[in-house]
Amino acid sequence: MALWSGRFEEGVGKFTQEFGASLPIDKHMYAQDIQGSIAHAKMLAKQDIISQFDADRIEVGLMEIRHQIDKGLFTWDINDEDIHMAVEKTLIEDIGQSGARLHTGRSRNDQVATDIRLHAKFMIKELMEQNCRMRESFYNKAEKHYGVIMPGFTHLQHAQPVLFSHHLLAYFWMFTRDYKRLYSAYQAADANPLGSAALAGTTYPIDRQMTTELLGFDHPTPNSLDAVSDRDYLLDLEYACSVAMMHLSRLCEEIVMWSTTEFAFITLADSYSTGSSIMPQKKNPDFAELTRGKMGRVVGDLVGLLVTMKSLPLAYNKDLQECKEGAVDAAKTLNDCMIIMDGMIDTMKVHPKAMRKGAGKGFTAATDVADYLAKKGMPFRQAHEVVGNLVLYCEKNHKGLENLTLEEFKKASALFEEDIVSALDLEAIVRARTTYGGTGHSAVKVQMGEAAEALAAD
Ligand code: ARG
Repeated sequence: MALWSGRFEEGVGKFTQEFGASLPIDKHMYAQDIQGSIAHAKMLAKQDIISQFDADRIEVGLMEIRHQIDKGLFTWDINDEDIHMAVEKTLIEDIGQSGARLHTGRSRNDQVATDIRLHAKFMIKELMEQNCRMRESFYNKAEKHYGVIMPGFTHLQHAQPVLFSHHLLAYFWMFTRDYKRLYSAYQAADANPLGSAALAGTTYPIDRQMTTELLGFDHPTPNSLDAVSDRDYLLDLEYACSVAMMHLSRLCEEIVMWSTTEFAFITLADSYSTGSSIMPQKKNPDFAELTRGKMGRVVGDLVGLLVTMKSLPLAYNKDLQECKEGAVDAAKTLNDCMIIMDGMIDTMKVHPKAMRKGAGKGFTAATDVADYLAKKGMPFRQAHEVVGNLVLYCEKNHKGLENLTLEEFKKASALFEEDIVSALDLEAIVRARTTYGGTGHSAVKVQMGEAAEALAAD
């Protein structure tokens, strides 16, 4: 018998019951459901709405249920529809009349909103912690390989040489922004809807401030209609997860490229690679690819919830039951992917020679050769043209800029002198980019200091 069976003469069929149940996903939130009920009972007793005796029995009964669920001994019954009724029904079976007083002045509508907010806060906290662990790995890798030069790309064409540490730190800052987005989702979730009851509040003299404090929320929600039907904080969470997954997918794409024979900038650890069932030589970057691929499902979770929420009239509607799976999935997927990324970055072998060699290909010194002329007085636009012609000349003669003789340089411009050699030196080219936020050795040192500070602050 359902706890609401009073006005019904017939029950729903088995299939319909299963269709309507949220119990399978609700199991993720049993601890929060029990926490919310204990806070509610304590508050009811303090306000003299139920007796202290009943509240104490409710608390002991709920703790026992939590213990049973923790140990896997709880008997789940799909006929209970959701975690709220599963727990309450068992409580009443266990302690009788006292248990039947728990649902005074509340509804499953404010209960489910409370559970989800508590669970969202829990999941977000985990994500923020994992984000910090992953950023630490990036920081350590950047520190370890400080000084290694690689080609920087635009349009995936060789552009200018950069420090590998600079490249890694670019992701570090993306992840730092992800952390902030997660924190802002945490703040959105951090309001207590309990006490909104079904939709309109309640006639009982409840103390919402007390449950707010007991449950560790920042403040009570100010509007009961909004409180029972608001899932914006899950949208915030899923958006934060989507952007973080997008960042990971960009990095995964680079990891896949870097581990090709053509690039050979890195070798992934065996523990983060898989083989082929037919080609004995293969070592595939499966986990980078899978992480890249999982971005799709997380964005799917976000879009799914947005569409579920669209056009929903106030206040609670059963559609809202659909919001839980996607949020749990998005958070778990991001968490798993960050763990994988952390390990993959930590264990990958970096090949400085291949990076350095790559940095020299594709005329990456061209900008600096143009700057050389500009610094000797030639207008930059003209210098750009002169060096463009030199690159064309090199391409036609199968040479690099570094293979040109001084005579060849001088033919292009009389301003070229012996010291052009230093303008072609990759190390010097990188080192000279001293501006704040640039790739020069000293600028990257400053950046690493700021990264360490940002990490320590989060
Ligand atoms: N099972 C519902 C959910 O997960 C909670 C109960 C909502 N209340 C109702 N009257 N159906 O959203």
